Order: sequence, then C-alpha cells, then structure tokens
Amino acid sequence: MDKLSIEGGVRLEGEVCISGAKNSVLPILAATLLTDDACIIKGVPELRDANTMIKILRSLGKNAEFEKGVVTVTAGKSNNFVADYKLVSTMRASFCVLGPLLGKLKKAKVSLPGGCVIGIRPVDLHLKGIRALGADINIESGYVTAKATRLKGAHIYLGGVYGSSVLATDNVMMAAILADGKTVIECAACEPEVVDLAEFLIKMGAKIKGHGTPVIEIEGVRHLHGASHTIIPDRIETATFMIASLITQGNITIKNACVGHLGAVIDKLEEAGASISITDNSLKVRFKKQLNAVNITTLPYPGFPTDAQAQIMALMSVTRGISVITEKIYPDRFMHVAELNRMGAHIQREGPHAIVDGVNGLSGAPVMASDLRASACLVLAGLAAKGKTSISRIYHLERGYENLEDKLQRLGARIWREKE
Ligand code: UD1
Repeated sequence: MDKLSIEGGVRLEGEVCISGAKNSVLPILAATLLTDDACIIKGVPELRDANTMIKILRSLGKNAEFEKGVVTVTAGKSNNFVADYKLVSTMRASFCVLGPLLGKLKKAKVSLPGGCVIGIRPVDLHLKGIRALGADINIESGYVTAKATRLKGAHIYLGGVYGSSVLATDNVMMAAILADGKTVIECAACEPEVVDLAEFLIKMGAKIKGHGTPVIEIEGVRHLHGASHTIIPDRIETATFMIASLITQGNITIKNACVGHLGAVIDKLEEAGASISITDNSLKVRFKKQLNAVNITTLPYPGFPTDAQAQIMALMSVTRGISVITEKIYPDRFMHVAELNRMGAHIQREGPHAIVDGVNGLSGAPVMASDLRASACLVLAGLAAKGKTSISRIYHLERGYENLEDKLQRLGARIWREKE
C-alpha cells in the first residue's frame, strides 16, 4: 500500500484548476439508468468513486466507457436490478441507484450500504420517500428490495434529525420522475450537486421545478431520453486549495471554481483575515497577514459544508486564538482530531464541538487517514508542519481528489508517494 510523504514548510504559489464535482458525478451516473438511450457525461474526474459507480452501472447491465474525462453510457444486452454488496459496501453513494432502478424497472434490489467512520448514516429518509411513491419495501439479508406495479406522485416531507439529506433527495427525485402525477419533496436538500442532477434530468426530459430550494416539484413523465451534460466544479476541492494557500502562507489562483457555491467558505476565511479576490470563475487566495481564529458550524447548504470541516480545522490549529468548530451534520466526524494533536495541535473534543487552541506551528509525524476529508486535513497539516509527515491509508484520498499530489507539486509542495 502507498503512503504520502510531505516535507512541510513551503509556501504554495501558482495556479490550480479544479476538477468536476465528485458528489455530482455519482448520482448523475446513476441517473443514466433511467433511459436506454446513450448519455454522455463530461468533466468527470478520475476518482476511485467515479470508477466504482461505472463498475456498478456495468454490473447492472449498462455499457460504460471512461476516457479523458468523458463517460459514455449506453444500453447493454440486459437490465439487472440487483446492486451487489461487494460494490455498494465500498461506497455509500452507490445507494442512489435505488431510485433510478425502481423508476425505470419498477423493481430494485440494492445492498444496504452500512455505516462508516464518520457516523451511523442511516437510509430511513430514502426509504420513507420511496415508500411514499407507492413502492413495497422489504429489508432482508442486508438488501433493500423495492417493487411497484406503478409509482404514484406524492407529497413527501424529507427532513430528518439533521435536516435535509442530499442523496435521499436525489434518490426520491429520480424515482418520482417516471411516476404518475405530481410529486412534491419538502425539506429537499439545496446543495449545488442536487441542482446539477436536476439539470441533467431536465435535459433527459424530466419536468422538475424548485431544485436548489427546499421544495422540489416533479411532474411525472412517461419516458426519458439520452442527454449530454458537463459536471460542475468541485466546491470541496476548491475549499481545500483555498485553505492550502492560507495554511502555507501562500498565494494560489484557483481556476474553474464556481464561486457562487462557496459563500460560506469565503465568508469564514475572510472573517479570519484572508485576502480573496474573485473574478468570474477564478479565485485568488493570498495570505497577507496573521489570521485570527473564527468559530464554524457546519450546516446543510448554503451553510458551511461538513465536507470542509476537517480542512478548516487544520487551518485553525495553526491560527492565533480559540476556534469552536461545531459539527451539525455528522456529530462524530472528528477522527482527524487525534491525528492533528499527534502533530502538535491543541484540540479538545466535547461532543459535537471541537475547541481548537491555535499553536505557533505543527511538527511532521506519521499519521493515519481515516476517511476522505480527514485525509485532506492531514495533507494540509503536513504542508504547514515542520519536517516530514507520512500519511498512511491514502486510498481514501483517491476516492475524492483527482491528481492531488500532482496539483500540489505544481504549486511547489514537496509531496511524494512511497511504498509502506
Ligand atoms: C452527501 C455527500 C457527502 C456529504 C453529505 C452531507 C454525496 C455522494 N455525498 O452524503 O459528501 O458529507 O451529503 O453534506 O453527495 N440522514 C438520515 N437518514 C437518511 C439519510 C441521511 O438521518 O436516510 C442523516 C445523515 O446521517 C446525516 C444527515 O442526514 O446526519 C445528512 O446526510 P446526507 O445529506 O444524507 O448525506 P449523504 O447524502 O449520504
């Protein structure tokens, strides 16, 4: 297995180009199950998770080719409706094949994804929504089986204990498109990736209104056709590079960024004292002066994204003052705290809060990545630390960051891969 080694302390400077959004690509690839026509998806990042979704599509009978950022999906010889445990267990987002399979074939059998290190992550909201559309649902031997002779539009409140759910909104929206009549999803997730999926579905012939707001309305149609679509830029990758610039006291210009998706992140970094200039689809993030600690609470979009919580904690760990970071989406998403403390950070966890007392500097250490965004946090900490940091289990990073080492090397970072 490979590990990533970083010799920290280099100011990062230069330009970086953001890849397509992982969280858009996955449901959009799943949506191709709704038609037998060809679909062409452009701007697809070379990520382990995108490749897993392609494998799932093939296992469900589709032909799917991935070349130079373009995935072409066409009908195969047969339609399989069973998404196997082996694939689904490697990536929770695979569960979003349930909605399109049920919508198109009126039956689906999808392995339950299980929990992961960031929390229990139930799927009750997905099942509530799909049941409301008239499907019979059975859970047996670790699989969800959903069946319906026909699906019927419904008024569905999809809020849970932690607010809206991104993938449950995606799943229910995809199941409702070929249902009879009108569906209203209340407390729908407003994330830009849900909007991107809805835009793709509209290109396929779906009738959707209100995406990007908490109330989505879907008028069922009989048939969807093929479509071509380009994936939006990844806002979490963008946030990660913004923080990389600040934590290394650098000066990075970030190209192909969707600035409109980053309001909460820009606001917090500016509050801390960062200099951020914005032009169309690029951001210049410059360290001008010592930053000050800020408090952060993660919330559903447009609030501060939970997927950037670990990265901003790395920044706060070397920022003057005390920062209280509150996690409102995944109260247990703090696996990175202990690893940051091993590098010299002063962070105390109190339930869903982390109290970060900024130190003057971190020192490089061997650390272990526990999940995707915690890995990014450790890379950022390693870039800022004195001496060498080695990060094990970097396959997590490959799930969600395209060419991260290469992009960082071009900005001047001393980062390389080694065999463990
Ligand atoms: C998506 C993102 C993930 C991000 C998360 C929150 C993808 C592929 N993944 O995950 O990167 O961290 O949104 O922004 O888009 N919940 C329930 N019941 C459910 C579903 C969710 O209680 O049926 C809870 C979750 O445990 C969590 C909260 O709702 O506390 C939000 O989770 P959700 O938005 O569903 O996350 P995902 O869509 O799985």
